[in-house]
Amino acid sequence: MTVAPAPLSEPLDLKIVGGIVLDGSGAPGYRSDVGICGDRIAAIADLSRSPAGRTLDAAGKIVAPGFIDVHGHDDLMFLEKPDLSWKTTQGVTTVVVGNCGMSAAPAPLAGNRAAALALLGKTPLFPDMATYLDALKDARPMINVATLVGHGNLRLAVMADPSGAPDPNEQRAMEHMLEEAMQAGAVGFSTGLAYEPGGYATPDELVGLARVAARHGRVHTSHIRNEADAVEASVEEVLGVGRAAACATVLSHHKCMMPRNWGRSAATLAKIDQARVEGLDVALDIYPYSGSSTILIPERAESLDEIRITWSTPHPECSGRYLADIAAQWRCSRTEAAQRLLPAGAIYFAMDEDEVKRIFRHPRCMVGSDGLPGDARPHPRLWGSFTRVLGRYARDSGLMSLESAVAKMTSLPAQVFGLEGRGILRPGASADVVVFDPDSILDLASWDEPTRPSQGIVAVLVNGVAVYPPAHRQARPGKVLRAK
Ligand code: ZN
Ligand code: CU
Repeated sequence: MTVAPAPLSEPLDLKIVGGIVLDGSGAPGYRSDVGICGDRIAAIADLSRSPAGRTLDAAGKIVAPGFIDVHGHDDLMFLEKPDLSWKTTQGVTTVVVGNCGMSAAPAPLAGNRAAALALLGKTPLFPDMATYLDALKDARPMINVATLVGHGNLRLAVMADPSGAPDPNEQRAMEHMLEEAMQAGAVGFSTGLAYEPGGYATPDELVGLARVAARHGRVHTSHIRNEADAVEASVEEVLGVGRAAACATVLSHHKCMMPRNWGRSAATLAKIDQARVEGLDVALDIYPYSGSSTILIPERAESLDEIRITWSTPHPECSGRYLADIAAQWRCSRTEAAQRLLPAGAIYFAMDEDEVKRIFRHPRCMVGSDGLPGDARPHPRLWGSFTRVLGRYARDSGLMSLESAVAKMTSLPAQVFGLEGRGILRPGASADVVVFDPDSILDLASWDEPTRPSQGIVAVLVNGVAVYPPAHRQARPGKVLRAK
């Protein structure tokens, strides 16, 4: 005998009926309806007798928490390209920005500059985090956003000569600025030790800053110094900062570059596990591709055969072309061609995707797109990271269950970055929801068509409001998530 469910006392705005609920925890999916009231999940139950303003039929589909992109560079895109379609089309409802040591605030002192900041966009940077977060709120973000403070920004905002070590006053000023940013709600700080000026950081400097973050229970993320020949020492360096400051640590876009280093993740992941055994909170993220992307670095031109230009200020016509072909046409060396293209960005094909998959299986590994939405011809990770993991990694190659893959994009990142009430489907949680078709979900963005939207996403809600499929008069329901 089955008992008919009692109708809910409060009327629902929306019910999603007949789908398989993956709640984000990694637990097995089960068939249920999901009711939404305002910006909250009201019920996960049989809602056949509960009236609702709207009903979405999800038969045969998965209903999951909206995905959390832990590694975004969309800091200024919330202002420049606010529809953020590269996120909503793949089910992303929250992004953590301010990665790799660069963020929209604080702005550099007059005269200080850093090439990597060009990756963020053209909008002038903000004097401090509070001003930036207020500007984000006023701009009405399409999806939820949390931010890290870039360590490079702190150096540029404080140090007269950011290519040296900070003197005691400068160190104090950086720590003070970080403290202010934490109070404004930043979820942590990021270092970009492979870039200028982050690469000039001293161990004491980083530990001093990480102590400020640790005091607030926030994280420290790092684009490590070297992801190729010195990858193990570089992982050890960042774990050392975490240990010395007792600060939760995230290794960004973890990888081992150049064929001679493929396989060394066995050693780097062992270091991470060792640190966790000692009690340090460590996590990491990957994007699911064999190519990486950042600014064009002429020193890499001869050591790598496949380098593809993503943008170039003096030569915009070269976007999408291979550096070797440009050099051949210009009858010069690849290094010289690279220098003539600057400022520019590039994709470097130097990773083993099987190793990327192995790293992704680590229980603390999350998905971070590292997408660069300002690029003329971006790396496809911008548009396809999440659907690629679900379609190619979970379903097609059976790397893990769909439940586990979803947990790595939802509850795990919410826990690592302290995003309360996100990344999980349960009554009372924020109504960030994605409905997708498990049979057809797939990334379509490719090296040749890098901005093609994914297939298989049925609907995406941010705080209870639909952001996908896009509406004619689109509301922008995202929230600025400030750590408390
Ligand atoms: Zn990075
Ligand atoms: Cu990055």
